[in-house]
Amino acid sequence: MTAPLLQIHGLHKAYVLDGVTIQALRDIDLNVEPGEFVAIMGPSGSGKSTLMHILGCLDVPDTGSYQLNGQDITRMDGNQLAALRNREIGFVFQNFNLLPRTSALENVETPLIYAGIGKAERRQKARAALEHMALGERLYHLPNQLSGGQAQRVAIARALVTHPSLLLADEPTGNVDTATSAEIMALLDALNRQEGLTIVLITHEQEVAGHARRRLLLRDGRLELQT
Ligand SMILES: Nc1ncnc2c1ncn2[C@@H]1O[C@H](COP(=O)(O)OP(=O)(O)OP(=O)(O)O)[C@@H](O)[C@H]1O
Ligand SMILES: [Mg+2]
Repeated sequence: MTAPLLQIHGLHKAYVLDGVTIQALRDIDLNVEPGEFVAIMGPSGSGKSTLMHILGCLDVPDTGSYQLNGQDITRMDGNQLAALRNREIGFVFQNFNLLPRTSALENVETPLIYAGIGKAERRQKARAALEHMALGERLYHLPNQLSGGQAQRVAIARALVTHPSLLLADEPTGNVDTATSAEIMALLDALNRQEGLTIVLITHEQEVAGHARRRLLLRDGRLELQT
């Protein structure tokens, strides 16, 4: 038996704004096994991004436990969390979050700089990651010279170039047309099925969630349904 990649128990998160407390996540229990593909759905304001930020170690819970690949994140300080994030997690966002005025190749190299990898090796790894995303002909294009689908594939190459154990995607198809959305989802399917990549993705769209092999519904900060 393998241990879960993500192990969350009794997790709560509240925000306080102008003296008003908002319970963004209430009593979340969630395990994700290596190689799973999980979709998190739910209405606007239900806590999806809050949960994603905690899963991605960009934020910490108020109470409850969270272990990522056997490491207890509630015992870590900011530097340890940043190192864990860089080692274990790749992020993909709705708006791609690519650095403007910076080539596709340099965008993909960025996480390798933080990982302390030298220039020649960075180049070679970034080039290979882009070629793997069928972007070998777009290495020197700037983000504004790419289509939406190409830009998201650069972002996926950047997320995966460090070989993370988990890919977190927050509305990865939110800014592209239907055909491009299908192309991105086919790519994520292939990464999951052929390479065993663990994926947790947030989406509003039933069709996108249909690609996942498990679907969770968040409502008012509670995980209500698992199908
Ligand atoms: N930094 C913050 N300060 C105060 N309240 C916040 C903060 N971030 C989120 N919230 C509140 O927490 C709740 C959950 O927000 P969250 O962003 O997780 O929702 P979401 O499900 O991602 O919504 P959407 O689908 O619109 O992106 C909302 O009521 C929101 O207003
Ligand atoms: Mg959100």
